[in-house]
Amino acid sequence: MVVRIPEEGRKITEIEAIRQYLAGIDIEYELWEPSQPVGPDASNEEILQAYSADIEKLKARGGYVTADVVNVNAQTPGLDAMLARFNREHWHDEDEVRFIIQGRGVFHIHPRNAPVVAIEVEAGDLIRVPRGTWHWFDLCSDRHIRAIRLFQDPAGWTPVYTESGVDARFEPVCLGRSFVA
Ligand SMILES: [Fe+2]
Repeated sequence: MVVRIPEEGRKITEIEAIRQYLAGIDIEYELWEPSQPVGPDASNEEILQAYSADIEKLKARGGYVTADVVNVNAQTPGLDAMLARFNREHWHDEDEVRFIIQGRGVFHIHPRNAPVVAIEVEAGDLIRVPRGTWHWFDLCSDRHIRAIRLFQDPAGWTPVYTESGVDARFEPVCLGRSFVA
């Protein structure tokens, strides 16, 4: 994970510093390893199985009732329409919990009383964006992400757009840890 605060020209790459900064704006972050290794060709069911113990812990902690795997790449039919639902500032009546298995993406978080934060997520990253948080999401240029999603109530997952226009001021830049670490 790489965290940037674009308006301050600041970048945070150290795990504990990232955790602390994000905790300050109410975003939970953890670095996970599977209880059993999963290969790049694992099915969604194999992924859910490999992480089942962790998923059950998260469910108990956050009241999540269901988990699934989202898997998109540049060849996914309707990808642009799918991405267009989430790359404008919005919020949900539901936590947004994502554990990244493969690929990358960028969450922008817009706290009420702090600058916008760009969070680049990659394999191993678990992020919890609490319900009501203003945010938006973009893929990186490779347009690939595979992630476990947890839901309290899938009905609450509908995005509510703020129409603030704030998202237009930020480029969804992906750096990749290897370039900045
Ligand atoms: Fe969202």
